[in-house]
Amino acid sequence: MVSASPSQPPPRRLIVAITGATGVVYGVRLLQLLRELPGIESHLMISDAGVLNLHQELEMRRKQVEALADVVHSVRDVGASIASGSFQSDGMIVAPCSMKTLASVAHGLSDNLIARAADVVLKERRRLVLMVRETPFNLAHLRNMTSVTEMGGIIFPPLPGFYHRPQSIAEMVDHTLGRVLDLFAIEHTLTPRWSGLKAE
Ligand SMILES: Cc1cc2nc3c(=O)[nH]c(=O)nc-3n(C[C@H](O)[C@H](O)[C@H](O)COP(=O)(O)O)c2cc1C
Repeated sequence: MVSASPSQPPPRRLIVAITGATGVVYGVRLLQLLRELPGIESHLMISDAGVLNLHQELEMRRKQVEALADVVHSVRDVGASIASGSFQSDGMIVAPCSMKTLASVAHGLSDNLIARAADVVLKERRRLVLMVRETPFNLAHLRNMTSVTEMGGIIFPPLPGFYHRPQSIAEMVDHTLGRVLDLFAIEHTLTPRWSGLKAE
């Protein structure tokens, strides 16, 4: 008879996708942070347009970024582990998320492994965070963001805050990613917690 109790609990798993919107630094930094955090297994996919932007914005090659992840999946491998709801994960972060991938998720197309993995995360009622990036938005973008929100996903455009007086782009990126990690209840020290305005 098969036992229902596992010998050891599975690691916390997070699926990360980098797509072809500007701001691939968010995905790369996220992978670096996940590597530093104990007990988290990262699963990475990079779209073809994401690879273009990695080169354009960070002068990084696909292999360099893939080396930051525990497990790498091809976006064309729709038979991968993460394509199934039986694969247990804490959820998925698309950083950054193009309007094309947003549209694909919003319409349940599952036309590549990124969209399929997001579809699975939504159907299993797990956490899906889309760091959407475009400006300005057209009505299709706005409607697609509404659809994903209605399905339980979180639309998280990487819009920097300024109240903590960031001194660098790296600080802005970390501040935003700290808020993303908060959504997965992952402990970090990236952002000082707001304790209210201090009187001068
Ligand atoms: C340099 C560059 C910057 C881009 N920036 C954006 C962007 O900010 N937002 C967006 O939705 N698409 C952007 N695109 C277009 C997407 O890469 C394109 O729609 C692509 O088909 C997205 O595919 P993917 O979602 O599979 O990565 C950009 C393309 C390039 C080459």
